[in-house]
Amino acid sequence: QAFFRPITNAAPPSPTKRQTKISVIGAGNVGMAIAQTILTQDLTDELVLVDNKADKLRGEMLDLQHAAAFLPRTKIHASVDYAVTAGSDLCIVTAGARQNPGESRLNLLQRNLALFKSIVPPLARYSPQTVLLIVSNPVDVLTYLAWKLSGFPSNRVIGSGTNLDSSRFRFLIADHLDVNAQDVQAYIVGEHGDSSVALWSSISIGGVPVLSFLEKQQIAYEKETLEIIHKAVIHSAYEVISLKGYTSWAIGYSVASLARSILRDQRKIHPVSVLAKGFYGIGDEVFLSLPAQLGRGGVLGVTNVHLNEEESQRLRDSAKTILEVQNQLVL
Ligand code: NAI
Ligand code: LAC
Repeated sequence: QAFFRPITNAAPPSPTKRQTKISVIGAGNVGMAIAQTILTQDLTDELVLVDNKADKLRGEMLDLQHAAAFLPRTKIHASVDYAVTAGSDLCIVTAGARQNPGESRLNLLQRNLALFKSIVPPLARYSPQTVLLIVSNPVDVLTYLAWKLSGFPSNRVIGSGTNLDSSRFRFLIADHLDVNAQDVQAYIVGEHGDSSVALWSSISIGGVPVLSFLEKQQIAYEKETLEIIHKAVIHSAYEVISLKGYTSWAIGYSVASLARSILRDQRKIHPVSVLAKGFYGIGDEVFLSLPAQLGRGGVLGVTNVHLNEEESQRLRDSAKTILEVQNQLVL
């Protein structure tokens, strides 16, 4: 007995809208924060979770499915078998070890290297047209590794990079100046880590360059104040990890914003980890964050933000820092 009597005998129209599918690899703190935000923001028709802990994976899937009455209809699947990811439009990789309190991200490379060698090839095999979005740390080096292991063109391999650092930067500037963080246009670029670079010379608030904003508002500032804010950005993760053991909510929103820009073809500019060779005087094959336009095909282009000499030098230094760690890789 049908639950309801159809009002017509005509066959239902075939779905014309292309169904979207996102796979999240790693159902831990970060993976689940990303999954939950993607569902809340209705960013996909199908969400797949993969992890190597079968019980935890099934528990997280059921727990999300039980929220169906409060969320837009989304098919949610989970499996330890990568076949479940087949045909994904976007694969978000959060699997891996996280920092212990006080530990740097770069220290995680050896623990996450072998894991990536087992994760990336099946993802690429099951979804040869997907965009890989890497979150696991050290995110810049692991994005380079994912590029090499997948054999994808570099525009379809992206690291979440300093999209999160830039959000922290915008929060701190907005808090300092009592404005809305969404009106603060500010980029942190380079390594998602200790050698990141704050682009002070191009920061604007409501379209007004911040340094002249401060002068107009007669807000006295010294260079040290700006440096203190950038140092607070770099310290953010260490502080949160020392307090709650990991970070998750901000990265969840950060990665969901990237997923939206990619899947909804927003052509929006985000500071994300891209192949930097050939930009801003960087000659090596290294991934680090630059302001990049994102759309359905992944990275559509890298913008030419003006960097002053100090910022350019710091960016090249950041590239060198990443390269020193990257050169330890044995592919
Ligand atoms: P977590 O330990 O809560 O989750 C990691 C998950 O990966 C676990 O569920 C584990 O079972 C799974 N996993 C481990 N080996 C696996 C394998 N071979 N295949 C599939 N799944 C596997 O850690 P958390 O807090 O979620 O952090 C995950 C990663 O994300 C860390 O590397 C962390 O540093 C990074 N991270 C990156 C951020 C960024 O801005 N790029 C921000 C926050 C965290
Ligand atoms: C963060 C670290 C965990 O920025 O990458 O939250």
